[in-house]
Parts: sequence; structure tokens; C-alpha cells
Amino acid sequence: MRVLVLGASGATGKLVVDQLIKKQINTRILIRNSAVLSSHINQSPLVEIIKGNINELDDFEMNNLINDCTIIISCLGHNVTLKGMFGNPRYLVFDAIKRICETVKNNANKKVKLILMGTTGYTNPLSGETNSMGEKIIFSVLKLLLPPHRDNVKAADHLITEIGKKNEIIEWAIVRPDSLVNHEEESPYEVYDSPVRSPIFNAGKTSRINVSHFITELVTVEETWIDWQCKTPVVYNKSLKDSDT
Ligand SMILES: NC(=O)c1ccc[n+]([C@@H]2O[C@H](COP(=O)([O-])OP(=O)(O)OC[C@H]3O[C@@H](n4cnc5c(N)ncnc54)[C@H](OP(=O)(O)O)[C@@H]3O)[C@@H](O)[C@H]2O)c1
Repeated sequence: MRVLVLGASGATGKLVVDQLIKKQINTRILIRNSAVLSSHINQSPLVEIIKGNINELDDFEMNNLINDCTIIISCLGHNVTLKGMFGNPRYLVFDAIKRICETVKNNANKKVKLILMGTTGYTNPLSGETNSMGEKIIFSVLKLLLPPHRDNVKAADHLITEIGKKNEIIEWAIVRPDSLVNHEEESPYEVYDSPVRSPIFNAGKTSRINVSHFITELVTVEETWIDWQCKTPVVYNKSLKDSDT
């Protein structure tokens, strides 16, 4: 098995790569020239590092990137800077997901599992999820004013509506954390089909390390994959008190 991780230099992506190394899984990562990696990842014999920008790869490079990878994970996200939020590429995540899907389909000889790190800000209409009037208004404003939110929604929509549940080549799961926090250690967490609290008015917390743990479970435990394939699982840190999360 070889796993491709996009966004591997990011706050969550690097934790995913750490977990894959721990599980002794061969991993290929695509990082920008400017990206900084830990020496642990840099020096791991299990990790193949490809340098480049996902938006700038030609078809040959894209084919080589996914070649031999049966699992593709995207932890891509816009840098929290003015340029990252409002500059190009506006559709970093959507464009990457769409292109990966097209490339996989054109190489139609293998099945691929695609895991997208999304957000509880994405409402899955096919799971019957709805928003209150207040949430609808705020999500509409966010979609209008915040290009990264629009991008995340468009990327998730692509998997749900364009790839769908009956695709014979691409299986997918969209992992939706609530507000991301950084914790050093994994902690108990819960996974739900749909948000159980308002992402806008009562958001929970999800530590990136728990997201990386769940993503690695999807990679390594077939039963977990079967449970969540073609779904949009929501991950929350487990806590009795909000202040503990
Ligand atoms: N903040 C929250 O509370 C929250 C909640 C739920 C979901 N999310 C979503 O979760 C995802 C991951 O979050 P995170 O905090 O782990 O992300 P992050 O630390 O910002 O990492 C983003 C990754 O994407 C890469 N990237 C950014 N711009 C790029 C570009 N133009 N071309 C190629 N690669 C690019 C970064 O590479 P460099 O290292 O080179 O910059 C980095 O590897 C995001 O989509 C975010 O929207 C966030």
C-alpha cells in the first residue's frame, strides 16, 4: 500500500504523515518548495517527498504523483494570510480534488480511496442535514466573503454529487472536524454522521491529532472504511465539559 498525502506540511497533514510512519506505511507527499518539514518526516525511509505546487503540475507530473497510490488524502487548506485567503488559487482544494479524480479515472485500472479533510461548515444535503435560519444567513455570508469556505464547500460537493456513491473507481470520505485545536496527545473523540451541535452558534472542538488518528484509522482499518465510505463523518473531541475540549 502507498498513500499520497496532499497538504503534508500543514498543521494536520504533518500529523497524518507522522501516524502513517508509525504504522510503517509507505507514504508519498507533495510539498511546496517553501514548506518546512520535521526531520522525522524528512529523514523517514518510508516517505517519498515530491516538491511542487499541486496547481502547477502538468498531466505527466500528476500521473506520476498518484501512480501506485491506492489511498489519497487531502489536508490542503488556504494559508491564514491575506494572500492565502483572498489571493489565487481561489479553488485550491476543489481544483486539486477535481483534477485528482479526473486523473484517477483516466488511469482507470485501479480503485482509489480518497479522504478529504473538510469542515462542519459543510452541510451535507444528501444526509438530510439542514441549517437553522441564522446558520443559513451566516453560511451564505461566509460563502460570499470567505473564498476558503467556498472552496471547501465546492470540493465536498464535487465528491458528493459528481463522484457519488456508485463510482466503481473512486471511493471517498469527507472528514469534518469542528473548530480545530492543537493538542500534543491524542484523546478520546467521537464520530457522528452529522453535526450534533451548531458549527456556528455552539461549535465544539476537534484536535488536529485526533483528526489525524481518525484519518489513519480510515486508511488502516477496513471496517472503519466500510463504515464511513461515501459519508461525511464529523469528529469531536470527547468531553464531559465544554471547557475540557
Ligand atoms: N480552522 C479550523 O477550525 C478548521 C476547522 C475545520 C476544517 N478546517 C479545514 O481543514 C483543512 C486543514 O486545516 P489545517 O489547519 O491543517 O491547514 P494548514 O495548516 O493551513 O495546512 C494547509 C496545507 O495546504 C498547503 N497549501 C496552502 N496553500 C497552498 C497552495 N497555494 N498550493 C499548494 N499547497 C498549499 C499548505 O502548504 P504550505 O505549508 O506550503 O503553506 C499546507 O500543507 C483546511 O481546509 C481547513 O479549511 C479548518
